[in-house]
Amino acid sequence: MTNFSKFYQQIATNRLSHWLNTLPAQLDHWHKNNLHGEYKHWQKTLDALPVVTTSVATTSTASTTQIDLVNGITIGDKSDFNDGEHKRLENLLKKFKPWRKGPYHIHGLHIDTEWRSDFKWDRLAKHISDLSDRYVLDIGCGSGYHLWRMRGAGAKFVVGIDPTQLFLMQFNAIQHFIQDDNVNLLPLGVEQLPELKAFDTVFAMGVLYHRRSPIDFLYQLKSQLVKGGELILETLIVDGDENTVLVPGERYAKMRNVWFLPSAKAMCAWLARCGFTNIRVVNTDITALDEQRKTEWIDTESLSDFLDPQDNSKTIEGYPAPQRAIFIANA
Ligand SMILES: C[S@@+](CC[C@H](N)C(=O)[O-])C[C@H]1O[C@@H](n2cnc3c(N)ncnc32)[C@H](O)[C@@H]1O
Repeated sequence: MTNFSKFYQQIATNRLSHWLNTLPAQLDHWHKNNLHGEYKHWQKTLDALPVVTTSVATTSTASTTQIDLVNGITIGDKSDFNDGEHKRLENLLKKFKPWRKGPYHIHGLHIDTEWRSDFKWDRLAKHISDLSDRYVLDIGCGSGYHLWRMRGAGAKFVVGIDPTQLFLMQFNAIQHFIQDDNVNLLPLGVEQLPELKAFDTVFAMGVLYHRRSPIDFLYQLKSQLVKGGELILETLIVDGDENTVLVPGERYAKMRNVWFLPSAKAMCAWLARCGFTNIRVVNTDITALDEQRKTEWIDTESLSDFLDPQDNSKTIEGYPAPQRAIFIANA
């Protein structure tokens, strides 16, 4: 989606209408000044995707329908295309490499992404409030894998934001096949959001450690929620007490943009300090090599290259290997 006018029309009549005070100017500015050098090529690839008619199912009876967002993301069936059409689809979608978050199954084509994002969804789904009829925001949503799972779980209106334009293209490719106006991705960073105070549920997964000011980030999340709304925050943690926070050197697991890795207790204390209530840790998990791995849909390194080859409990820099926790709290 580069033309956001349909999104504006939708929010004009829903509880996000006050976003229209700032959003069109921001996205116009983005479109005029910040388009990625490859954007036009990407757009041509999107335009070349085949048109197929499908129907969306968002209930657990989805197994017999053409689009399943409940058990994973499966669109159509292999028999929808002949061999040549399959190969063409694969070639087009591979132009959007690296595919990090997924997996997606599109007319029999398995986009075997670097991450099994379904594992994260399975870890959190049983702990969150029912998404039925909710307005949901996913901050740092990547290609939007979880947006579709949120919609599949009954959410009424789902918005994702992510500043990485390749991920917008990947989302648009999936949206091309699903065609659901109630799921949208906007090319924005969290710092560009006004205080909307309009979402029933806000997800912020895998983003906090990329922020240089995590406390400001938590306030930004809170200001998107209605009073009493639910935050689902997932982030890298380290072992330790409520005063333990790791600030790595130049790189953590080869990533340059990692700033604060709190202990689970420290993270709970930060959430409390920012006024969240009912704070709990619902899951902790060491990232396993079957959740983040090299596939034919990425050309870059993956987790096994980021760990110490002699000792997988450490990163290549000698820090504790990635351990993640899911926190739930209310605004
Ligand atoms: C580790 S990925 C997490 C993706 C997804 N939420 C998940 O849990 O699988 C971090 C994402 O945050 C996005 N991101 C980076 N800076 C951001 C910002 N300022 N605001 C929102 N998202 C940001 C990146 O583009 C990337 O897609």
